[in-house]
Amino acid sequence: MNASGRDPIAAFYDAHPYPPPVADLDAVASRSAAGPDRVAHHLIWPGRDPDEIGTLLVAGCGTSQAARHALRNPHLDVVGVDVSETAIAHTQQLVERYDITNLHVERVPIERVGELGRRFDHIVCTGVLHHLADPLVGLRSLRSVLAPGGAVTLMVYAPYGRTGISLIQDYCRRLGISTDPADIADLVAVLSEIPDGHPLSRLLRSSPDFQHDDALADALLNPRDRAYSVPDLLELLTDAGLRFGRWERQAPYLPDCGSISETPHADRIAALPVDDQYAALELFRGTIERHTVIAFAADDDASGEVAFDRPDRLVPIAMPTALVVDDPARLPTGAAAALLNRAHTSSDLVMFVDASELDIFRRIDGVRTVAELGAELGDGAGSFVERLWRHDLVVVDATGATAGGAG
Ligand SMILES: C[S@@+](CC[C@H](N)C(=O)[O-])C[C@H]1O[C@@H](n2cnc3c(N)ncnc32)[C@H](O)[C@@H]1O
Repeated sequence: MNASGRDPIAAFYDAHPYPPPVADLDAVASRSAAGPDRVAHHLIWPGRDPDEIGTLLVAGCGTSQAARHALRNPHLDVVGVDVSETAIAHTQQLVERYDITNLHVERVPIERVGELGRRFDHIVCTGVLHHLADPLVGLRSLRSVLAPGGAVTLMVYAPYGRTGISLIQDYCRRLGISTDPADIADLVAVLSEIPDGHPLSRLLRSSPDFQHDDALADALLNPRDRAYSVPDLLELLTDAGLRFGRWERQAPYLPDCGSISETPHADRIAALPVDDQYAALELFRGTIERHTVIAFAADDDASGEVAFDRPDRLVPIAMPTALVVDDPARLPTGAAAALLNRAHTSSDLVMFVDASELDIFRRIDGVRTVAELGAELGDGAGSFVERLWRHDLVVVDATGATAGGAG
């Protein structure tokens, strides 16, 4: 608490709202007509029908996140909470501008979300928990309002990819840099002179957080944040009564994806318990700046599972960010194409496929089952789709709703 008795984080975000406010969500509004976002849904719940998910809590919603979710998903009943008045006011402006009737926003801290007296099928909490005085108290609070079968999408900072940020945060603290516009302008000037090879220089070039003063303040001058390594995060989930489901983008954490899979250590990592595999991959990669994890209640052991040995029940859906590179000049001998996901930040996460596999990938339409798509691969079709899934190139609809056979 500061001298006024108010959490410094709330005061900080009142002055430096994040993300930088937007007035225009026309592109989001236009996508809502496409119906439920099956990719986003089945990434979390392969085996549940989108109609089963009715309520969403956006916890620490910032300026626009709750409005985006509500606009994109008119079938959902959305609640957004935040401690910042500015964040609530910007969200309210979007509610009015787009006449959003399925969103309620309220100034409530995550720690007291139980006072809403409601439960939610899905809770989204991204970029928030690491700013709380006690993140575990916050996450337990979210767990307490999770409906049976529900999921939490949680994003927290990761330490090693943020080394450059930690260094400059410490530098700013030592110099007493404030968030006054003059101090921020000076800081921007100093950052343009940061030496080549400084761990921050990669982020300065690539991260949207350095293209706007409020975002820069959020990254470098935030009064409170911390970062979670993979083991820290898995422990946090367990302590909050949650179970790891999957990484939102999982290929960077898997030893059979990307350049590590070609090394003598691939098998050695794969022999470790799965949590240790993720921890090893975070250390190998070195550049992961944030972890986004899908978690379920610890006593919910069914959600998130996919049975790849039932190709007659699985319908793959291609990720919209998946890309096929089939220029022979850029491919190794024998490969018909390289499949990659443009949303990955590491360029090594490429899956090479032969001609028949490429043909299957191209025929994925979100309707046909794995068995229908890959008849010529027989039993191999399931494992091919599992590889696509592990490389974040598809999600799978395992509801059986569009599949022919039952039982
Ligand atoms: C970095 S912003 C992220 C906003 C949004 N989740 C997004 O990803 O666009 C962090 C937000 O969390 C809010 N916040 C911080 N502590 C909070 C708490 N204890 N309860 C609710 N909101 C909080 C801040 O006010 C701020 O709007």
